[in-house]
Amino acid sequence: MNHRLPKTAAAWSRLEAAGTAARDRRIEALFAAEPDRLARLTLSAAGLDLDLSKQPWSLADLDAALDLARASDLDAARAALLAGEIVNRSEERPALHMALRAPPGADFRAAGQPISAEVDATRARMKAFAEQVRAGPIRAIVHIGIGGSDLGPRLIWEALKPLSPRVELRFAANVDPAELAQALSGLDPAETLVVVVSKTFTTLETPTNAETARAWLRAALGPAADAQLVAVSAAPDRAQAFGVPADQVFAFWDWVGGRYSLWSAVGLSCAVALGFEAFERLLAGAAAMDAHFASAPLETNAPVLLALAHIFNRDGLGRPIRAVVPYAQRLRLLPAFLQQLEMESNGKRVDAFGRPVAHPTAAAVFGDAGTNGQHAFFQLLHQGTDIIPVDILAVRQATDGDPAAQTKLLANAVAQAEALMVGRAEAEVRAELAAKGLPAAEIDALAPQRAFPGDRPSSFILMDRLDPERLGALLALYEHKVFVEGVLWGINSFDQWGVELGKTLATRVLAELEGGPPGAHDPSTAALIRKLKT
Ligand code: F6P
Repeated sequence: MNHRLPKTAAAWSRLEAAGTAARDRRIEALFAAEPDRLARLTLSAAGLDLDLSKQPWSLADLDAALDLARASDLDAARAALLAGEIVNRSEERPALHMALRAPPGADFRAAGQPISAEVDATRARMKAFAEQVRAGPIRAIVHIGIGGSDLGPRLIWEALKPLSPRVELRFAANVDPAELAQALSGLDPAETLVVVVSKTFTTLETPTNAETARAWLRAALGPAADAQLVAVSAAPDRAQAFGVPADQVFAFWDWVGGRYSLWSAVGLSCAVALGFEAFERLLAGAAAMDAHFASAPLETNAPVLLALAHIFNRDGLGRPIRAVVPYAQRLRLLPAFLQQLEMESNGKRVDAFGRPVAHPTAAAVFGDAGTNGQHAFFQLLHQGTDIIPVDILAVRQATDGDPAAQTKLLANAVAQAEALMVGRAEAEVRAELAAKGLPAAEIDALAPQRAFPGDRPSSFILMDRLDPERLGALLALYEHKVFVEGVLWGINSFDQWGVELGKTLATRVLAELEGGPPGAHDPSTAALIRKLKT
């Protein structure tokens, strides 16, 4: 890592020095030293409340991080993104997911070309389709797609589905045949719609599963089955070549990145299964966050501040891992969604000009729903050797179920954030053990094990209800956070060349497993292939 833009060098040095200084103080102490800390580090945007005061930065450090954002020309980069300029230079494309959720009649342009009318027309087609399907005999949808063609819709369905849906929605992403077999199991082909989603329509997994699902439909329904096969793609000609009738293909555009595509026709299955009104509300929530991101000053801009908090941990304090813990079972897929969004977008080691980056980029993301995670990986968060910053999310009102249980859930979310930061001093543990009459040698052995170092940072994101608007706002918050980080790191957040090599080699290995001649491999790989062939 050695490339450093002269323009931002001083600001980066200041941020790194701030990180070094932060190691020698405790987060908790900053509250006493900074009377307006809570006011400056809590904010609301598009129905979400953010508390970034349990992060390790002081208010002066925040100012240093904001200076870095200014020195990185974040304002200009944001304007270029929203203006539809070619921000994805390695693929020569704009990144205009905001156009997909703008209210009808907007005027977005992709590299100068108007696109909003086409977006509105596709949305109208989706609406008509959703209403038609919901009025007919279809009782289940099997959504086939992977990565960006799967994770967003899967999360939305899980987050918003009714307890007894009129139309059931199931997903199959993996080329592991077990997943599709499970998705189809128990369904009546006569009442099932298969929606095949692939931006490129070349991804190995999706046509493989689509073939199997089509055969399943045809075995029961004969040629009429194809009326129940729908495709969504930015390569509609390939979808048609696969055999989906043209009027059952929903298009989107190459200026929509796969992991930013749930707002397009990629969300069709959800629009049908949840009803189009819910889908429109999801879009409206994301649009509200877009408006906030576009107009709020940097120092009160939620995606900007969240990005700066993460960058302070990643680059100021050298923390390579982040946890995401939604205290909402319905958001349990959020960590998986963010893994693709953050790690595929910003897991880059060279900048947009091919030069080695000057600073560590995306942290690895993991997580699970709270409270479940408390009984799995929180031990390490509290007492492990590495400090892992956590994003904690909570929803004030229960979506379903017992409100008393919801209060217990919320208590845990708040308590964990407090415990991570405050910890429990060894002296206190010692006093407690002594009061119980334990011998000194036992206290010496036990007290360090039962003490909590604390000073472990978290962000807290609170919403009143888990409704479509707030979910849309939440996902847009993270999308823009990822963009801001990419700008500061000087990388292209919208390509993903790192996934290509594995795909190419898998094609070669497959040819060998299917009986082709052996290729050149390292000894370990060659041995594995031989083993699988016998
Ligand atoms: O994993 C690589 C990737 O290209 C992702 O970026 C993308 O979301 C996924 O595969 C699926 O791609 P497609 O929608 O083209 O099938």
